[in-house]
Amino acid sequence: ETMRNFLQELPKCEHHVHLEGTLEPELLFELAKRNNIVLPEQFPKSKAELTERYNNFADLQDFLDFYYIGTSVLLTEDDFFQLAWNYFERVAKNDGLAHTEVFFDPQSHTERGVSMDTVVKGFKRGCEKAEEELGISTKLIMCLLRHLPSSHGLETINQAEEYIVNGHIHALGLDSAEKPFPPELFVECYEKVKQLHGSINLTAHAGEEGDHTYITNSLDLLNVKRIDHGVNSIQSVELLQRLSDERILLSVCPLSNIKLQVFKELTQIPLLKFLEHDVPFSLNSDDPAYFGGYILDNYIAIHENFGFKIEIWEKIVKNSIHGSWCHQSRKDELL
Ligand code: HPA
Ligand code: ZN
Repeated sequence: ETMRNFLQELPKCEHHVHLEGTLEPELLFELAKRNNIVLPEQFPKSKAELTERYNNFADLQDFLDFYYIGTSVLLTEDDFFQLAWNYFERVAKNDGLAHTEVFFDPQSHTERGVSMDTVVKGFKRGCEKAEEELGISTKLIMCLLRHLPSSHGLETINQAEEYIVNGHIHALGLDSAEKPFPPELFVECYEKVKQLHGSINLTAHAGEEGDHTYITNSLDLLNVKRIDHGVNSIQSVELLQRLSDERILLSVCPLSNIKLQVFKELTQIPLLKFLEHDVPFSLNSDDPAYFGGYILDNYIAIHENFGFKIEIWEKIVKNSIHGSWCHQSRKDELL
């Protein structure tokens, strides 16, 4: 209990949470009804059934199949606002979250005829209300879906041009099925956003199911300055050294790794290796509505399995603050 309080009060920063992955079963069914969305015939019919199914993902793709059905209930600007607000309110109040950089997947909405404006305006309104009323800081990261062709990604960047230029979209990421869609397929997309906004931040999912070359190629070819997941970096000592030297933050997602069967047990997540090689990492929830826990649950699960001393927790939290993409003055407040 005192440990829970200690972890709750740490000034936590989250760098890896998909807003569409915060869609709780309750809101999913509510929006499906409100928007007259017919869910697939085999889709679980109740909250209890759906939650039960979420306990049995075979792998990343099995999860993604549910995740994209979930996204299909989001239609109006208010839906996107409500989704984001529910997450911000929950983690600010329950989890002691201070700063969060949230992913969204516009292509999963524009493909269904929902406009980029609807998506970004709804999420942006959620971010603004959270900053004003909850005192947390937020950033939006637009992700491209790597199972779609890079030409679709380029089109998406064009649709988002206004928001990239004005900074409402703060960074670019890359998600969805990692294999067989290596980073080199998206070089043009990463170059294009850089042209639109020279100081835009860049990240990519890599080394969750792909091997260590997915990480190295994301760094070399996409020029990313952060790696989402990145756990397969342990396959290469040279890479670990590089991540440490260049202060590349890995956004590790413990409960996600268990639910998607990347690791059998939490103790197998290579946090000790990262600490040993001084590789910076943060702890994150990924898709909390699907993986059974928000950010504090991830911190608690790691504490229960690793029993880190206070000094280690302080190091993890400091690295998370330093690796954040907020203004230095905000970092100083949190440190
Ligand atoms: N990996 C890849 N794509 C995703 C994830 C993830 O963890 N979550 C949502 N989309
Ligand atoms: Zn993710």
